[in-house]
Amino acid sequence: MTRVAILISGGGSNMVRLVDAMAGEIPATPCLVLSNTPGASGLAKAAVMGVPTQVVDHRDFKGDRTTFETALTQKLDAAGTDVICLAGFMRVLTGEFTRRWPRMLNIHPSLLPKYPGLDTHARAIAAGDTEAGCTVHEVTETLDDGPILGQARVPILGSDTGPDLAARVLQMEHRLYPKVLAQYLTGGGAPIYLS
Ligand code: GRF
Repeated sequence: MTRVAILISGGGSNMVRLVDAMAGEIPATPCLVLSNTPGASGLAKAAVMGVPTQVVDHRDFKGDRTTFETALTQKLDAAGTDVICLAGFMRVLTGEFTRRWPRMLNIHPSLLPKYPGLDTHARAIAAGDTEAGCTVHEVTETLDDGPILGQARVPILGSDTGPDLAARVLQMEHRLYPKVLAQYLTGGGAPIYLS
């Protein structure tokens, strides 16, 4: 069975959806939830679900990204990782790491290629966009780039604040990511589009 490690930095709601899906329709095992933030509340959620957890605190490496990533890779190797899902993991990864782990997916809260990086919801509202959404893509060394495997769209309402839109997009993230992971693990196919 394919072993999937999930990397988080915060609440881990996408991680929970992926772990749930691996208890059901996705034929894979969640082998590790790994965080760069010791206080990430997702770690406790993973532990309750019986998934092993580890922390590699980036602050211990004082900007030495290569050594930080070596520590990540050690944990991932020790867990027997085949596939990585980034799920709210808020560190930029080097080409060395993305080449070491070619089977790596990310979820990003915008309709890429629009709005890579941070503050996606506020940027979409400020631009006057009428829709927003999320994207699951393969990870390459370019931030929030790489082949798109799925996208989900939501409307932007006139009254929306950034947090309103973020909440609506997050609900779609929860639907999209398990579907895309399932297809990815069973041999791929055309990108999945939800709305
Ligand atoms: C999600 O919106 C994800 O796309 C973004 O950070 C958020 C993480 O949410 N990069 P969670 O930790 O999965 O609840």
